[in-house]
Amino acid sequence: MTRPVTARVPAKVNVQLAVGGRRPDGFHDLANVFLAVGLHDEVTATPAESLRITVEGTDAPHVPTDHTNLAARAAVALAARHGIAPDVHLHIAKDIPVAGGMAGGSADAAGALLACDALWGTKTSRTELLALCADLGSDVPFSLVGGAALGRGRGELLTPLETGGTFHWVFAVADGGLSTPAVYRECDRLREETGAGATVDDVPDPEPSEALLTALRTGDPAALAAAVTNDLQPAALSLRPALAETLRAGAEGGALASLVSGSGPTCAFLAKDAEAAQDVATALAASDTCRTVRTASGPAPGATVTTP
Ligand code: C5P
Repeated sequence: MTRPVTARVPAKVNVQLAVGGRRPDGFHDLANVFLAVGLHDEVTATPAESLRITVEGTDAPHVPTDHTNLAARAAVALAARHGIAPDVHLHIAKDIPVAGGMAGGSADAAGALLACDALWGTKTSRTELLALCADLGSDVPFSLVGGAALGRGRGELLTPLETGGTFHWVFAVADGGLSTPAVYRECDRLREETGAGATVDDVPDPEPSEALLTALRTGDPAALAAAVTNDLQPAALSLRPALAETLRAGAEGGALASLVSGSGPTCAFLAKDAEAAQDVATALAASDTCRTVRTASGPAPGATVTTP
């Protein structure tokens, strides 16, 4: 009997999310600075008669357990690449908020790839794994590599970034998720509404902020706070106006920066240090503007097999 294999995968926050115009293929070019943070999902792969998904955790009822689950699609893609059947039971222990803008689905896909590759002994190269990740979704390659990285293209073309310290974050998890495609569509709609247009011909190419990259490199939270941006935030706020209250509550609780995480609706708050993060978390919990409050620091390592 082959022993089960477990992979542990971090969540992410986008410290810069610069969104270019809509491309002819419907995606948007990005300058996407990812930071992996210490909230994790665990994916365990066990041999089975056929592909099966089970999920545990508070958000489990909101996770599909059919072939549409990104972890299932990852197992199918890896098996197809090696000409074998994807006969595996994937159990996902979910701690990353679902549809929250923290790459939970992407984390499960990266975890499934690593766990299945080890279970099946398929010894897929890192380059091939990254290509499979990119086919599965724009954020999946980052879930595999973790740390901090700049994502270009639709976010899948990664350059690792140096970080000079640990950044302390608080996350306010909203009730219910937001659909990433819907948030991009709203971003386009808001741009069209201004009359400036929303295509690649209308919007300047997104560029990483030098100030932000320097702040990451030097590990300076105040400098990072001054440089964080998210071009999807107006769209997320337009679809979910109540998030403005959450952002205000975190700022009043002493956060150095308050922003929507990726496409939302999770809000991310950067704190000066671990102690300040606790204060922000306490203020948010008392504010009654979110479902749950979590603290986590980054950078965190990427997807890792944890079984011996
Ligand atoms: O790549 P992924 O499947 O995560 O993307 C989900 C959706 O988000 C896409 O179908 C697209 O609508 C939108 N998206 C985008 N530009 C990106 C990434 C995602 O428009 N760079």
